[in-house]
Amino acid sequence: MQAIDVRLGPRSYQIHIGVPHKEQLASAIREMSPAPSKAIVVFDHRTESIAERIASQIGLDKSRVSMIDIPSGEESKSILHLEHLWKRLSKAEADRKSVIVAVGGGVIGDLAGFAAATWNRGIRFIQVPTTLLAMVDSSVGGKTGINLPEAKNVIGAFWQPCMVWSDVTTLASLPTREFRSGLAEVVKYGIILDPGFFDYLESHATSILTRDENALIEIIRRSCLLKAQVVQEDELETTGLRAVLNYGHTFGHAIEALTDYGTFLHGEAIAIGMTMAGHLAVSMKRWPKDAWERQSRLLEIFGLPTRMSESIGKEIQVDSMIEAMMRDKKNAYGRLNLILPTRIGQVEGVSDAPLDLVRQSIAEHLGSQSA
Ligand code: GLY
Repeated sequence: MQAIDVRLGPRSYQIHIGVPHKEQLASAIREMSPAPSKAIVVFDHRTESIAERIASQIGLDKSRVSMIDIPSGEESKSILHLEHLWKRLSKAEADRKSVIVAVGGGVIGDLAGFAAATWNRGIRFIQVPTTLLAMVDSSVGGKTGINLPEAKNVIGAFWQPCMVWSDVTTLASLPTREFRSGLAEVVKYGIILDPGFFDYLESHATSILTRDENALIEIIRRSCLLKAQVVQEDELETTGLRAVLNYGHTFGHAIEALTDYGTFLHGEAIAIGMTMAGHLAVSMKRWPKDAWERQSRLLEIFGLPTRMSESIGKEIQVDSMIEAMMRDKKNAYGRLNLILPTRIGQVEGVSDAPLDLVRQSIAEHLGSQSA
């Protein structure tokens, strides 16, 4: 396993990426101080077999390991399931030295992480992401939380894991659509921070798509390194730096909300969102058109959408998109704050994008005809 340090003073931790041997997790857990009194493994039915394997490799006596299953799906990030999880933690007699082990995608990581942040005023948790999206984004950086019916992720806490354990072999069985969805966030890192990484993605697209283990380790490693650098400099999203990770997300979150979170996977909505944001940057003359075309080409090679299909697009009004974008929690003082590229590997926060150009970039991508 390769290890990446996330340096956050007393909240520092390592992200382990690779193909672990059988004893490796137990030895990493043995190094934890103080030693965990108990491990509570939280998973959903899709990750049950991985959770059982992880539980057997934790290196604690069986009597000190509890398993808690959560229904799969975004609905589980709710106050109801959080309460259910708290009650199960109580039944498992989780104490302040216990560790929660979150095995799954972003939903399990966010929910179990928030339970860890609030149980006994905060206990340790280990992220064991099992999707590409979780390995490159949600398991790193300490954002935890649940949704309200009215808004996503509005209840939450920054609560850093004490370890991230990314076993790339779990990606072999990930459904193709979900795997590709994770690649949208990977492309995002190239655009916002690292032109060399963007080149790597272009030149290794085939081995990435065939899930060659070395290529997977490389894209997860480089994505996590980039995210770690941003989180180290702006852990609590106060200076504005961490907001660069939001590239394509203001448009993308609006697309997800207007399609009731049921049409697009997160990465698919972000791919369309990055295309809209990139188009806007081109029309504002902040970004060369050929760079935007390179971005679209790579997203398409990875099987990601860069516009909505005619049938979905015609049900979405540009006005509703703007309204949904205005509700984004990154906005302040009633202004639309967008992250737009200036070159591949660099983005800037922009709060004065002309609304007619924003509308045009949305309208151009609401149907199947080319822009
Ligand atoms: N996913 C964006 C962030 O962690 O800040």
